[in-house]
Amino acid sequence: MTSSSLSDFRKHFPALSKGIFTNVAQRGLIPVPVHDSIVKYLSSRTDLTWDKEEAFNMVEDTRSAFASFINATPSEVAFTKNVSEGINMIAGAISWERGDKVILCPDLEHPANVLPWYNVCKLHGVEIKAVKASGGLFDLDRIASSIDDRTKVISVSTVSFSPGFVTDVSGLANICKQRGVRLVVDAAQSVGILDTHVRQLKVDALAVATQKGLLSCYGSGFLYCSSDFSEELQPATLARFSVANEEGSHETTLTDQQFHYALGARRFDGGNYNYLGITGARAALKLLSDIGTPIIEEHVRKLSFRLANGFLEIGLPVCGGAPGNHLGHIVAVGVSGGGRHYTAEDPAMNILHDRLVENGVHLSIRRGVLRFSLHGYNNIDDIDQIIDIASSTQ
Ligand SMILES: Cc1ncc(COP(=O)(O)O)c(C=O)c1O
Repeated sequence: MTSSSLSDFRKHFPALSKGIFTNVAQRGLIPVPVHDSIVKYLSSRTDLTWDKEEAFNMVEDTRSAFASFINATPSEVAFTKNVSEGINMIAGAISWERGDKVILCPDLEHPANVLPWYNVCKLHGVEIKAVKASGGLFDLDRIASSIDDRTKVISVSTVSFSPGFVTDVSGLANICKQRGVRLVVDAAQSVGILDTHVRQLKVDALAVATQKGLLSCYGSGFLYCSSDFSEELQPATLARFSVANEEGSHETTLTDQQFHYALGARRFDGGNYNYLGITGARAALKLLSDIGTPIIEEHVRKLSFRLANGFLEIGLPVCGGAPGNHLGHIVAVGVSGGGRHYTAEDPAMNILHDRLVENGVHLSIRRGVLRFSLHGYNNIDDIDQIIDIASSTQ
């Protein structure tokens, strides 16, 4: 594929003719083919043409599509509502013993990757070891030195929601493997935009929702759980699609308590699926796979480098300074970690934000910094226009 496929990709987003969209970190734009697939689903329910067998095939097709998207196998993928649910499923399925430990870096995490662990703390007497971030990044040395023989899990986001730096997940996975610790990742901000290869990353579990980089609905997500990890896990909730069924038999035949969990991550599937959300996700996965995430990642990294350098040249305080490995598809400007969440501490940053919005730029403020987040549909013109608007406010 060449960059012309990225310009074709851009054509699926009519909203881009009305403004500059740099806000996928909050929610992605829904491309027309995803919209159309959802409308088709709704029509089939309105005009009585919906067929449940076909719907099950569509679900399995989507499971396989997501599995190949992240280089997993279909039985390592379950359907969820969101990231929080995926992480809660893992946290609730581990056989905890009092005094077991989970290492987290709450300074950098979204509540989706904090609250499920706080809950097991309360329910099972697990201890949370909170490690401080360093310069907006997970500090691998601090994490490594916090591991002891009671550490069971480390949970981090692949890209933080603010300041949006990329975590060295495979570096952390190597530490986890050496120390016999399971690595769970919140991949809300990366999947669909940054190439994600779970075998290379060596993560044990990964949770994602579909409304950001996966360009589809809220209330729909995926949970990857490696085959060997899932075989250790006992789901806290059980429903008909979480149990193994003999070929051709129906769940209603299961009348005694002798059940087996479904293979691998399928044990986390519940009752009926979110057919609407999954339909949308399937259409989005098709579009994204046609281009390929290595190409999308290379493209967004070039754009974010250009944006960060452009901001630095006009004297703006880019988080993390000069572009480097920490920079993926999110460029943050301002002083991170201020007391506020949706506004910046620095009045100059609030003025800059308002000026950008008046000029049709979509962005967000998180933890006090202006957050510009890019996807394959962004182009160099978007970046140069943002820099022009920013320089005229300086
Ligand atoms: C890092 C991160 N994790 C999780 C979420 C969302 O979690 P959930 O899908 O459970 O709402 C977000 C943003 O909404 C996020 O930025």
